[in-house]
Amino acid sequence: MIGLTVLVLLIPSTYCKEYVFPDNFKFGVATAAYQVEGAWNTSGKGENIWDYMTHTNPSSILDRSNGDIACDTYNKIKADVQLLKNLGVDFYRFSISWSRILPSGKTDYINPDGIRYYNELIDELLANDIKPLVTMHHFDQPQPLEQEGGFLNLKLADYFEDYADVLYKNFGDRVKDWTTFNEPTLVCFLGYSGEFLAPMITRKDGGYLCGRTLLIGHAKAYHLYNKRYKNDQGGRVGIVHDIFWFEPRTNKIGDIKAAEAAKEFNFGWFAKPIFTQEGDYPQIMKESIARSSKLEGLSKSRLPQLTQEEIELIKGSADFLGVNHYTTFYCSPIEDDTIERGLFYLPDMDANCIVDDKAESSATPWLKVIPSGFRKSLNWIKEQYNNPEVIILENGFSDAGNLLNDCPRVNYYNRYLTEMLKAIYEDDCNVSGYAAWSFMDNFEWRSGYTQKFGLYSVDFNDPSRPRTPKMSAFVFKNIIRERKINWSYTPDGFTKCEWPKSKDEL
Ligand code: GAL
Repeated sequence: MIGLTVLVLLIPSTYCKEYVFPDNFKFGVATAAYQVEGAWNTSGKGENIWDYMTHTNPSSILDRSNGDIACDTYNKIKADVQLLKNLGVDFYRFSISWSRILPSGKTDYINPDGIRYYNELIDELLANDIKPLVTMHHFDQPQPLEQEGGFLNLKLADYFEDYADVLYKNFGDRVKDWTTFNEPTLVCFLGYSGEFLAPMITRKDGGYLCGRTLLIGHAKAYHLYNKRYKNDQGGRVGIVHDIFWFEPRTNKIGDIKAAEAAKEFNFGWFAKPIFTQEGDYPQIMKESIARSSKLEGLSKSRLPQLTQEEIELIKGSADFLGVNHYTTFYCSPIEDDTIERGLFYLPDMDANCIVDDKAESSATPWLKVIPSGFRKSLNWIKEQYNNPEVIILENGFSDAGNLLNDCPRVNYYNRYLTEMLKAIYEDDCNVSGYAAWSFMDNFEWRSGYTQKFGLYSVDFNDPSRPRTPKMSAFVFKNIIRERKINWSYTPDGFTKCEWPKSKDEL
């Protein structure tokens, strides 16, 4: 009888997958400066690459919009922090606008209003028991630095270190969790070898030159903190990598290899140099870039080698790993020309990765709802990088923004968080926190305001930019409060969602 009781008590947690978030697990929501702040030229802020691109080339943005006003969070510190408090989050992930602090990108002039603005935000958060988790660069380097070649120029690693110094000095007494760069793979490939992000430079070696600058800039900022600030301030410094999951399209060896290559080009590129004992770029990248450079008749590889000194500088330069995860792609080798070029493609990567057309869609063409890829990504990180502490710093779902009763978003969060819980409890993945992307609808880069990721809806036609909580805001709040996924929770005033599958099948 006792045996039976024990069995019955054990069943719900595994069979029904009703895991409870660990006591010390932290919840947050995330935004990025250019996407929400507005006040693009207020009180001494300098121009950044997104200001420049949206103003000089408005048609680069799907709805010809820009972040001049965005959500106007610059003018709404107190009200927004109350919304955060109401959600019950432990931390708020936001980024600092480099140009608001250093208008020229360099330390010749520190803009007092930039210091004031972030001081007020940080103080208001702490007064409400919310910890700031700060990203130093989220896609928006100062435009004047672009005149010097932007991240193609290794000198920017030094400017970044100087900028980090200003941040630690001014805010480090209160900010304890820092991340240097957000999604270096996308910054570099989509910004300097592709046309998807500012500054839209298309140089075949651009991504790799940029990558070296970011790795070295990151490492310098990390070591600076350790040397000069860590003792007194007691904080820590990490980096934020984007990880998509890549499945082989079939179980053919070529497809399996293609998926492996994609993982290394997407994630290994920046994770291996920092999070492994041997450091340096993944072997597969070194080999395939050298091969294609040779085929093009180049005398050396387009991937600039890291010197031994640089390898040592970069190795181990992070106290935790920030991870952004959204979706899964399906890969086959590039030479299989029966398949159209997919949405995830990096030059030199011998893989063509496409979305699953049959999977549930969002308003973002590349974002399909495939929760199992989240758990697999976390396991891959655990295995490849010796189970580092991971904080999920972005995960979320877009729609066209006309839905307050946003069941598809609730479905996404419930399912992805369930997979994350399985990774924690069944696979021992070391995940300590989770931030939803995003706190509120905002400027979604080249897609402007056509794709909405927020828990709060923002009316961009109203000059006062009112915020309205969607159903997902209440559900997220309830997850934090109950510390578990509750599929049957319907907040007051909202219509119950019809789930496509029964809970046990999910
Ligand atoms: C990430 C990016 C965010 C946000 C999100 C949704 O790559 O860091 O700023 O835009 O994608 O597309």
